[in-house]
Amino acid sequence: MRIALLGGTGDIGEGLALRLARDTSHEILIGSRDPEKARDAVAEYEAALEDHTDSVDIKGFANEMAADRADIVVCSVPPYHVGDTVEAVADSLDSDTVLVTPAVGMKGDEDGLHYHPPSAGSVTELVAERAPDEVPVVGAFHNLAAGALADLETDLDLDTLVVADDEAARDTVLNLAGELEGLRALAAGPLANAAEVESVTPLVINIAKYNDDMHDVGVKWV
Ligand SMILES: NC(=O)c1ccc[n+]([C@@H]2O[C@H](COP(=O)([O-])OP(=O)(O)OC[C@H]3O[C@@H](n4cnc5c(N)ncnc54)[C@H](OP(=O)(O)O)[C@@H]3O)[C@@H](O)[C@H]2O)c1
Repeated sequence: MRIALLGGTGDIGEGLALRLARDTSHEILIGSRDPEKARDAVAEYEAALEDHTDSVDIKGFANEMAADRADIVVCSVPPYHVGDTVEAVADSLDSDTVLVTPAVGMKGDEDGLHYHPPSAGSVTELVAERAPDEVPVVGAFHNLAAGALADLETDLDLDTLVVADDEAARDTVLNLAGELEGLRALAAGPLANAAEVESVTPLVINIAKYNDDMHDVGVKWV
């Protein structure tokens, strides 16, 4: 499959790109608002992967071009820009494209981070509202720390929760996430359950803040 990471030049994009490139045989398309920036990121990721895998298949494109070529499109941009980003690539999406969002709305104060969903109920549901009706939307990867993903020396032992209304799209993402070494993907129900999944992210970041040696902590459900 071809997997596009829109805003794949950023933190979670880098982490997912490195893990997907190392652990799977899928073609990775790094998207950016600036195709030159995407190509620079690809060069960095190829260098980081040099000692970890023999062959990598990563290319850089403008977001629209990456989405147009992909089977799975991960919208890895800040939560307040996901709606506009989805609309910018809408013409490149169709019923055969799975649109994935890891985005979480949060507000910070002196105590830590707090869940701050949009009026849609969750960023995942906002993405579903802004995407063309026929495009299946899946929420995944919300509670993973980008730093842990990007550090290929780190062995993961983590879960990611997957929410979707479309069962085929959900299964596609469950299978994809499960291909990453040390990552277990668990179904967490329909898009209506996305707020519960997203709200775990500020909790995890607050645990990292208040405990030594818990930087990039994640969740394993046992
Ligand atoms: N960081 C984490 O550990 C983590 C973990 C789980 C989930 N997430 C979620 O993943 C998403 C991305 O997080 P991140 O930390 O990777 O973000 P980030 O590094 O701050 O940004 C990611 C990319 O978004 C693009 N971008 C920035 N401003 C934009 C705008 N106004 N319009 C469109 N694109 C814009 C940029 O790409 P270009 O300049 O190349 O276009 C940037 O490289 C967030 O929604 C976050 O909630 C993050």
